[in-house]
Amino acid sequence: MDHLLAALRAVAEPTRLRLVTLCARGELTVTELTQILGQSQPRVSRHLKLLCAAGLLDRFREGSWVFYRLSRSSPVAALARQLVAACSEADPTIALDLQRLAAIKRQRADLASAYFRENADQWHRIRSLYVDESEVEAALAEIIAAADPRDLLDIGTGTGRMLEILAPRVERALGIDQSREMLAVARVNLERAGLENGLVRLGDMYQLALADGSFDSVVVHQVLHYADRPAAVIAEAARVLRPGGILMLVDFAPHELEFLRDEHAHRRLGFADAEVGEWCVAAGLDPAPPRHLAGNPLTVVIWTAQRRAGPRVVEEMPGGASITILEREVR
Ligand SMILES: C[S@@+](CC[C@H](N)C(=O)[O-])C[C@H]1O[C@@H](n2cnc3c(N)ncnc32)[C@H](O)[C@@H]1O
Repeated sequence: MDHLLAALRAVAEPTRLRLVTLCARGELTVTELTQILGQSQPRVSRHLKLLCAAGLLDRFREGSWVFYRLSRSSPVAALARQLVAACSEADPTIALDLQRLAAIKRQRADLASAYFRENADQWHRIRSLYVDESEVEAALAEIIAAADPRDLLDIGTGTGRMLEILAPRVERALGIDQSREMLAVARVNLERAGLENGLVRLGDMYQLALADGSFDSVVVHQVLHYADRPAAVIAEAARVLRPGGILMLVDFAPHELEFLRDEHAHRRLGFADAEVGEWCVAAGLDPAPPRHLAGNPLTVVIWTAQRRAGPRVVEEMPGGASITILEREVR
């Protein structure tokens, strides 16, 4: 009861309620929150401190940036979600905050796109600076060989490298990317490799234009660190996996190389195993133990997770016929 009362007291103030609703919609820095609220940074920081102390928000530091997000594990996490649900998006103050948040997200996306546009044809070189790709590729090929999927989706395909190495092992492979320039490079690479079962399409990893349960395997290679909502990317990947299908996430272990953020548009400096595991479980996946490929200075981690088998339900069709479909378990 003490927790609840402290949380209710903390949130009973207009700016703090606005902060809670904003932090439910992404991981945000104090600078971004200050821009949205139009209040001074010390004032916003003071409110954030109170909300964190009350367990409504979580704060985490990555190098020189501090992010805030709605708490998921504190004793008042459920209350925080209920408060957010109770705040109508039609309320004029909340509506304006959400509009400003959308503008900030667009700015971020534009920055990332500009970066990728400028680097499309150099990406192979940039990537090779950090990790020993042949080791990672061999490990992924092993995982695919063991899982033996019919098809593969490569989210954030970039220059199509994952398709080049994995498409020969499946009947059908599709790469999705938001950058036309990257896709142009990928098409050239696929053609050069003679891969006729590999396609690339323009798309957004947060909203794939693909049906639920349409792939046996999904790979997300060196993409998550650009995401402002990595958990949402994982949930979307899980949605398009068939039950029993496998998700392969490849990214860095937590590190402190700030220049990757400043010069290469990385939003996250690596991910902890526990964090990725939690996101997978929340998306209806069963995570396997991750594989760490230590490098200098960066360690690459391969996280794999399998989509839980959903119970089958029978749906009536017009005219009395029935079809068997897989129950949606991941939204
Ligand atoms: C570092 S590259 C990795 C490319 C590829 N997976 C590889 O490892 O070679 C990251 C890719 O993610 C793509 N990307 C970033 N945000 C995206 C989004 N919202 N939807 C789709 N692709 C996105 C970028 O355009 C870029 O091609």
